[in-house]
Amino acid sequence: MEGAAILLFSLLLLYKSYASDLNIISDSRFLTDEDTLVSPGRVFEQGFFKPGSSENRYLGIWYKNISVRTVVWVANRDRPLPGASPLELKIADRGILGLFNNSSKVWSSNTTTSGTATAKLWDNGNLVVVDQQERVFWQSFDYPTDTLLPGMKLGRDYVKGKEWYLTPWKNSQDPAPGELTWGADRLGYPENKLRQGASVKFRGGPWSNERFPGVSVFSKSLTFRYDVTVNESEVSYAYNLEDNLT
Ligand SMILES: *[C@@H]1O[C@H](CO)[C@@H](O)[C@H](O)[C@H]1NC(C)=O
Ligand SMILES: *[C@@H]1O[C@H](CO)[C@@H](O)[C@H](O)[C@H]1NC(C)=O
Ligand SMILES: *[C@@H]1O[C@H](CO)[C@@H](O)[C@H](O)[C@H]1NC(C)=O
Ligand SMILES: *[C@@H]1O[C@H](CO)[C@@H](O)[C@H](O)[C@H]1NC(C)=O
Ligand SMILES: *[C@@H]1O[C@H](CO)[C@@H](O)[C@H](O)[C@H]1NC(C)=O
Repeated sequence: MEGAAILLFSLLLLYKSYASDLNIISDSRFLTDEDTLVSPGRVFEQGFFKPGSSENRYLGIWYKNISVRTVVWVANRDRPLPGASPLELKIADRGILGLFNNSSKVWSSNTTTSGTATAKLWDNGNLVVVDQQERVFWQSFDYPTDTLLPGMKLGRDYVKGKEWYLTPWKNSQDPAPGELTWGADRLGYPENKLRQGASVKFRGGPWSNERFPGVSVFSKSLTFRYDVTVNESEVSYAYNLEDNLT
């Protein structure tokens, strides 16, 4: 009897056949196409979705509490996953967070660590991969899609040699990057530019210490601030809530 109970328990551990809300992805806990990863304050949720009437599945992040699903980030923008093949989001070798379609990798984070890694979704909408000391070594905020959330940056990171910019979806059924990009000029003082390929369609002018008052978010009255950084490691402006000021 006891043996049977232990066997049943082990089988339950082996076969995760129910959908669940997770708050961490680790060596032993992965996300299937049925599950979602929820931020601690239940502000954001990550999981698989089909945009509009599309049959393609994408890994995305959206607001947990907005009934009309508002997607703020998409991982496999260029790799639509049609059909019903089993999907898994898990920590693979060397701390890489990988999206697997029937066991073959279709998307992954590309920063590695030697120790144990876990992935978490923070309440600001940032999907992070952290080491045992909770140091972030990969974050979705470094790979913006079409939405700039408070805490994200646009500009250029000279250390990692990458650019932070936004690209709209092709259309409401297809999150693949469209032709336009919205970023900050990498030369000198950052300036917003809307580009189509190599040509600049719109210039936002260089940022000053201007404030943008009266914009309300999460039904609280908050104001936004852009923090400009120009130094040896980056040229960027970050979009922050005034509440976060120290
Ligand atoms: C989500 O919405 C419900 C109902 O409107 C509300 O009670 C709850 O506080 C909200 N939660 C968050 C995290 O905003
Ligand atoms: C998954 O891949 C295996 C091996 O390639 C294949 O036999 C199986 O049919 C695939 N499953 C689905 C659901 O496509
Ligand atoms: C996903 O896996 C299925 C089943 O193995 C396969 O038919 C399909 O081509 C795969 N899709 C991608 C985008 O890799
Ligand atoms: C990581 O992947 C992104 C795109 O997914 C790419 O732009 C970047 O160059 C990659 N970084 C490294 C270190 O491979
Ligand atoms: C540049 O500024 C960023 C953001 O404030 C900071 O994290 C980084 O350490 C700075 N780099 C240098 C070389 O001062």
